[in-house]
Amino acid sequence: MLKVLVLGSAAGGGSPQWNCNSPVSKSVRDGFEGTSPRTQSSIAVTANDNEWFLFNASPDLGSQILKNKQMHPQKDLRHSPISGVVLTNGDVDHVAGLLTLRERQKLSVYAHKRVHSVLKDNSIFNVLNPDFVDRREMVMNKKFELKNKDNVGLGIEVEAFEVPGKIALWLEDESKGENFGTQEGDTIGLKISSTRDNKSFYYIPACAEVTKELAQRINGSELILFDGTLWKNDEMSSSKVGEKTGQRMGHMNNSGEDGSMKALKDLNIKKKVYIHINTTNPILLPNSDERKIVEENGWEVSYDGMEISL
Ligand code: MLT
Ligand code: MN
Repeated sequence: MLKVLVLGSAAGGGSPQWNCNSPVSKSVRDGFEGTSPRTQSSIAVTANDNEWFLFNASPDLGSQILKNKQMHPQKDLRHSPISGVVLTNGDVDHVAGLLTLRERQKLSVYAHKRVHSVLKDNSIFNVLNPDFVDRREMVMNKKFELKNKDNVGLGIEVEAFEVPGKIALWLEDESKGENFGTQEGDTIGLKISSTRDNKSFYYIPACAEVTKELAQRINGSELILFDGTLWKNDEMSSSKVGEKTGQRMGHMNNSGEDGSMKALKDLNIKKKVYIHINTTNPILLPNSDERKIVEENGWEVSYDGMEISL
């Protein structure tokens, strides 16, 4: 058995974004029927119903823990059902929540060595006291079981693999040319499996392109939580709330010939769920044409608090 809890379904900045008056942000702020606030990108997974691993740690983690009783301390004066964190990249929306996890709690943090090196270079992350927090390197394409700080396996296996993407925004270096210094391991996808049965799913919150290899890998899966950042590649500039395209940010659009709906259309995947959705994306409006189209194409739009059992 695997249980997935969506802690945060939005992309960086959440929805609404603090300084944004685009239709989605405004509708959510105005309490438009059927809309709801979405916090920043993270899921929690358990294989035994009481020990959870976070997949990405969002800047909203404090409020996400408060909102979801599965994440509350259950016993003793200090306790957390959160045993550790797996990071898929170094973006602010995926690592800033680590700072919420201080207070001498035993945790293990798994990430690609690239991501570990940027955490190491930023001494603010030393609030994760090394006596209590193990930083473990995640090797690509090699299945391993997630273990808590005491090295007890939690029944969850992970296989990490590189996907097309980009270096974290705050690490971009324009002097390094077109890809801003992006290297292997800057963006990864995960296959998350139960060790006790053959249940598994894919979690890929950032992806710039579905390559042939990626399509083959995910084909036949039961569930995929996939990068739903934008509806259209140029939606930030066309709606005048920003300048960057999805491709410039390392994200795919849902729609169009080069979009994720098209790329996954002919694959055999039972349940397809968009996650990491930007506040400019009209699929967040319940009555929009775009929401209708993604649903007609077999996709669900995740929301904070969504639970999926496998
Ligand atoms: C992204 O997913 O593109 C980043 O989270 C952007 C950001 O850090 O705001
Ligand atoms: Mn992001």
